[in-house]
Amino acid sequence: MSGPWNKHVLITAYLLCVVVAPCLSELERFAHAPKPDGSLSFLVVGDWGRRGGYNQSKVALQMGNVGEELDIDFVISTGDNFYDDGLTGVDDPAFHQSFMDIYTSPSLQKQWYNVLGNHDYRGDVEAQLSPVLREMDSRWICLRSFIVNTEIAEFFFVDTTPFVDKYFVEPEDHVYDWRGVLPRHQYLSNLLKDVDSALKESKSKWKIVVGHHTMRSVGHHGDTIEIRTQLLPILKANKVDLYINGHDHCLEHISSRDSDIQYLTSGGGSKSWKGDVDPLNHKEIKLYYDGQGFMSAQITQTQIDVAFYDIFGNVMHKWSTYKQLLRSDA
Ligand SMILES: *[C@@H]1O[C@H](CO)[C@@H](O)[C@H](O)[C@H]1NC(C)=O
Repeated sequence: MSGPWNKHVLITAYLLCVVVAPCLSELERFAHAPKPDGSLSFLVVGDWGRRGGYNQSKVALQMGNVGEELDIDFVISTGDNFYDDGLTGVDDPAFHQSFMDIYTSPSLQKQWYNVLGNHDYRGDVEAQLSPVLREMDSRWICLRSFIVNTEIAEFFFVDTTPFVDKYFVEPEDHVYDWRGVLPRHQYLSNLLKDVDSALKESKSKWKIVVGHHTMRSVGHHGDTIEIRTQLLPILKANKVDLYINGHDHCLEHISSRDSDIQYLTSGGGSKSWKGDVDPLNHKEIKLYYDGQGFMSAQITQTQIDVAFYDIFGNVMHKWSTYKQLLRSDA
């Protein structure tokens, strides 16, 4: 390359990297078309992979029924996909035994968008992220943090495990696979920046954030203080509608006093913690169910309908929210 041309390319590259890149989110994006009428429906399950045990198979069966009724577009997993210690590798039979052989209903043969939970970090994390699993079962999409844009709603999946101090400072006898996460401080600050800029860029009517850990919970683990202090202010500033998580093995809906964010816990995919609840009764708590089950959501331009189900398919709780149709939606 000749001198001036070379210099021009370098300056352009410099401007792109330094000036443009920091404002653009680095998160990988997936486009998922809504139904022809513009609406969307999906299920959420969390904390599930126990080879069918602890009612996992019963939850799966009811997910199949509700999935068919609502003609779902995809399934979201809020993490802790494989107990107790994630996958040992891409050839771990648990992928068949806890996922492929369990969620067999026709309506569940859709894309599954998965995040990682703390138990997944105790195994070979890169196995769950590996395209080899997607070759075995094309439903499987698992990344640390990513975005799914459905036009009507944008979903921001956030890797919450690395935020939690306890796993680093007192791991007890667990070994966590932190490959790809260290140095931790840099990983977290990049992630928060990416989530913030992706939310700011979003033109979707509804913004939904999904993570493994609880933001607000009266269950076993309670609130996750690290994400409440670091992630929640970003969600509030960007007017996120729903924060959806697992981690506490229950079904839970908590509203908030100081914003419109609703906190929805769907962590009842298998073993649940009966009776394990903070006895304080706040009026923000719309549902606390300490048995197994899952959640559904239906979204249109003007409305979100959420429902929680037990292992018999009974609706435990329903909730709806509305937004005006704007001229720009037409
Ligand atoms: C399965 O669900 C039923 C009904 O909620 C409950 O009574 C039973 O204890 C559950 N079994 C396990 C192993 O969690």
